[in-house]
Amino acid sequence: MSKVLKVGIIGLGAIGKVHADAYSNVEDIEIGALCDTLPDRLQEHGERLGVAARFTDYRELIKSDVDAVSICVGNALHREVALAALENGKHILLEKPMAMNAAEAAEIKQTGEKHGKLVQVGMVRRQTTEAQLVRDMVERGLFGGIYHMRAVLIRRRGIPGLGGWFTTRAESGGGPMIDLGVHHFDAAMYVSGLWNPTRVSAKTYAKFGRDMRSYRYTGMWAGPPKFDGVFDVEDYSTGLIRFGSEATMSFEIAWAANTEEESFIEFLGDKAGARIFDKGPLTLWTEHDERPADITPKYADLGNPFHTQARKFLAACRDGDPPAATAEQGVTVMKTIDAVYASSENDREIELS
Ligand SMILES: NC(=O)c1ccc[n+]([C@@H]2O[C@H](COP(=O)([O-])OP(=O)(O)OC[C@H]3O[C@@H](n4cnc5c(N)ncnc54)[C@H](O)[C@@H]3O)[C@@H](O)[C@H]2O)c1
Repeated sequence: MSKVLKVGIIGLGAIGKVHADAYSNVEDIEIGALCDTLPDRLQEHGERLGVAARFTDYRELIKSDVDAVSICVGNALHREVALAALENGKHILLEKPMAMNAAEAAEIKQTGEKHGKLVQVGMVRRQTTEAQLVRDMVERGLFGGIYHMRAVLIRRRGIPGLGGWFTTRAESGGGPMIDLGVHHFDAAMYVSGLWNPTRVSAKTYAKFGRDMRSYRYTGMWAGPPKFDGVFDVEDYSTGLIRFGSEATMSFEIAWAANTEEESFIEFLGDKAGARIFDKGPLTLWTEHDERPADITPKYADLGNPFHTQARKFLAACRDGDPPAATAEQGVTVMKTIDAVYASSENDREIELS
């Protein structure tokens, strides 16, 4: 491979545009080709980015001379497009969730290994400054042993695209658990280093989206609502994940709930605790000089996490660095999410294999 990584982007919706902007900001990456089934969107981004190689069929793009592709289509297409790209010798940066379920994710991982191509999963939140900083502190022992985490992401009324692909299980794989929970689960496991979820006990609910016409909201991204569409996913989930007998994580992930909006991941260690992705400044709850003490560290901002993700993708494809988020980790997160749904459906704790 030359010094410059030539990438194609498949899917030019909300996140495809973010990938394009990130690649445009990273030295030694060139956007070589674009694909979307919507010709107007394809033309608009092609002109904006100055990319002449444009395709409405991704099977044509993956035959072009790009080294790698960003896969930014809806969840139901992740497996199909990922396998085709890997089989055609392309490295992939695959948006989250890695796939619709763990079986699909494992197939993508194996196909990457078989063809000697890289799979980096788009778990971008671990590239945020707070996640990187706290992970570094955890690795240096500042937290002691982490024994519990709380992953909370609650929107008051935040169902995206009611009736569209987000709320149609056959297209999305699930509701906020697979849409947002995937980010929180990944970031929690990444920062804590706890990659051994063993048991899951969970419950999901659908209390707001099912009766589409009575859903009251102030704004809707990926909207407007399609009242003749489908809502067959959850809008709230809660549960407990065990990591062996040493650690646990409780979670609450919601697109809609009658409570305050909240978003954080809390790490409880026997030497210190902290929350990331919370409102105020990062605070370490710890002890100092034989007293409980709150420490607010000063630190440099690491910049846009999508740019960091793109830079790490370049380094992984070109220089053989480890990918920013591995396929193996992606499979672990998907197995945990599968177990959340299975636990809820079967009303029992699920043991992960
Ligand atoms: N990392 C993040 O924070 C983040 C944020 C948003 C979305 N996502 C993920 O990105 C993916 C896309 O989400 P989105 O919000 O951008 O969706 P979107 O609907 O805005 O965009 C999807 C795009 O794919 C195009 N498309 C559909 N079928 C296609 C095909 N066969 N070939 C080529 N293009 C096709 C659509 O026309 C559309 O432009 C999802 O998996 C989602 O979970 C990740």
